Amino acid sequence: SAAEKDGHDWFMRKEILEQPRAVADSLIGRRTPSGQLQLDEMRLADEELRDVDKIIIIACGTSFYAGMVAKYAIEHWTRTPVEVELASEFRYRDPIIDATTLIVAISQSGETADTLQAIRHARSQRAKVLAICNTNGSSIPRESDAVIYTHAGPEIGVASTKGFLTQLVACYLLALYIAQVKGTRFGDEIDEIMRHLEAMPDHIETVLGTAEQVYGLAAEHASTRSVLFLGRHAGYPVALEGALKLKELAYLHAEGFAAGELKHGPIALVEDGLPVLCVVPPKGRDQLHGKMLSGIQEVRARGARTICLAEEGDDSIEPYADALIRLPKVPVLLQPLVSIVPLQLFACELATVLGHDVDQPRNLAKSVTVE
Ligand code: G6P
Repeated sequence: SAAEKDGHDWFMRKEILEQPRAVADSLIGRRTPSGQLQLDEMRLADEELRDVDKIIIIACGTSFYAGMVAKYAIEHWTRTPVEVELASEFRYRDPIIDATTLIVAISQSGETADTLQAIRHARSQRAKVLAICNTNGSSIPRESDAVIYTHAGPEIGVASTKGFLTQLVACYLLALYIAQVKGTRFGDEIDEIMRHLEAMPDHIETVLGTAEQVYGLAAEHASTRSVLFLGRHAGYPVALEGALKLKELAYLHAEGFAAGELKHGPIALVEDGLPVLCVVPPKGRDQLHGKMLSGIQEVRARGARTICLAEEGDDSIEPYADALIRLPKVPVLLQPLVSIVPLQLFACELATVLGHDVDQPRNLAKSVTVE
């Protein structure tokens, strides 16, 4: 009913708007009074974590893209090698795992069969399994050695939104916790990142303020047959997730690419009027931003309509953006928490304009309990 949806047309739209709260809830109780990070419910001893020399993240769908972001964060902050693998591929390729491998299984529902089978395989090889899950007492956390619960609240829309954001938060917390235990980052560095994380609910609220602009863009592109998404670094998984949302809901051909890979093939797809959504990394000391900019110029020179997501104050992008959606200024590794939001809104609105059932897309299930 409309009441259950707080007066919104879809659970998905309601859940997108709940994200500031979901992220705030996922951060509650994570610090001791002295500021140390704590993950109480995790049930994995610091000594066990210190011995971990390789991490393999396994997940499906949207959760897999959260895992890709996690890889960037964990490797950067902890210097521990991370692989990210689709759960459905994992056990069939004879992966190299042993007692010092930590498997991180990410699942909103906790019931995805591919992920469940993968963790069973990992445990049979003596690896420790940590679940990141939104559903208390579900199969995946029950069969894991440890768990970090996300606090999104029930997610009803089939396409994951607040589930994804809270998974990102859990991944950042895990990465920082490992950094604290292994001593790969100083306490004040961890503290600074935590302060950025704690500011995220406000930033997400700000980016939700772009909704009307994004809805206008979605309506404008309702007759397109294909949409591309470009990103780099932590923005690459965001591009993939933005494309997945559009496939799931609008039944459109949508693909995400790492912007640097354009020239190796995908640029051949660009034709006049093709909408390309570009996730622009923050301006930093590295060359990421400039490289992204040249990617945007390349597609635009070939006729693409560029819809750019770029941080507040980034003027360099203006000449190359047919439309410009502003993001709050945040560190590059945390940017997915804000940059995915307009892409969720875009997919939700485009599907609505096309007359599709956003909460129950054809052929999809919220949780897939068969392999
Ligand atoms: C299904 C859903 C997706 C979801 C995936 C993984 O395919 O339709 O939205 O991302 O399962 O779900 P999980 O519950 O394991 O995160």
